[in-house]
Amino acid sequence: MQSASRAATTEGSEAAPKEGADRAHQVQRIFSEIAPRYDLLNHVLSLNIDKRWRKAAIARLDWERAPEGTYLDACAGTFDLALELAKKDGFGGRVVASDFAHPMLVQGAPKIEARAVSPVCGDSLRLPFANGIFAGATVGFGVRNLADVRAGIGELHRVLSPGARLVVLEFTVPPNPVVRAGYLLYFNRILPVVGRLVSGHPWAYTYLPESVKEFPGPKELGEIFEASGFKDVGWKLLSGGIAALHWGVA
Ligand SMILES: C[S@@+](CC[C@H](N)C(=O)[O-])C[C@H]1O[C@@H](n2cnc3c(N)ncnc32)[C@H](O)[C@@H]1O
Repeated sequence: MQSASRAATTEGSEAAPKEGADRAHQVQRIFSEIAPRYDLLNHVLSLNIDKRWRKAAIARLDWERAPEGTYLDACAGTFDLALELAKKDGFGGRVVASDFAHPMLVQGAPKIEARAVSPVCGDSLRLPFANGIFAGATVGFGVRNLADVRAGIGELHRVLSPGARLVVLEFTVPPNPVVRAGYLLYFNRILPVVGRLVSGHPWAYTYLPESVKEFPGPKELGEIFEASGFKDVGWKLLSGGIAALHWGVA
């Protein structure tokens, strides 16, 4: 893990601290600042594979169990995952899409016009919702950014009704050494440069690969799900282990 001071030196600016309020503020600032270019960079840097991963996440949600229900998409950003559910044929419910970076919600707002998606500006570590009200929940590439992952998974469990499913889509580090070497080369060398050029942000795309490398692997995240009260916990690697889907039932 690159230290904050080393990142500051190499990037001529700063990097996100590991945990606590400072990290939360830093993450909120990063996404607020890159919001105008977030969608473009997302699709370019993932070579559009992210679209396939989002479809796989919604396929795991078991929303057909309650097609008229209210679902939560936490750390919703510019709404791509919330929309993936809202656009499903046969879905007649609503997706509440929450994020604490207001500029991300503003940036995504045109995409949710006339869609059953309700934006809420709120912190995933203190969700502004009553206990047990959601029929299911998703988080796409958000859990890794939380200042306290255990507290975040616990909050998601709190707002889900019994039997509702949580699906988390997150980056991970591929287990195969050959795939991992190529992935780390891309993440460490190419992604920060392209990210900096397109976003104009000096260090946000240095923070992103660092946050992936320090994030718990699928097994450890599964244990956090179980410790938070989720049952039937499982996970599946996607695209050779670049990303992973995690799920559990409240
Ligand atoms: C990588 S983006 C993912 C956005 C979207 N889910 C997607 O799939 O493209 C991560 C998002 O998580 C949000 N986020 C991080 N920590 C958060 C927190 N504690 N509360 C609410 N949102 C948070 C950021 O503001 C950012 O919009």
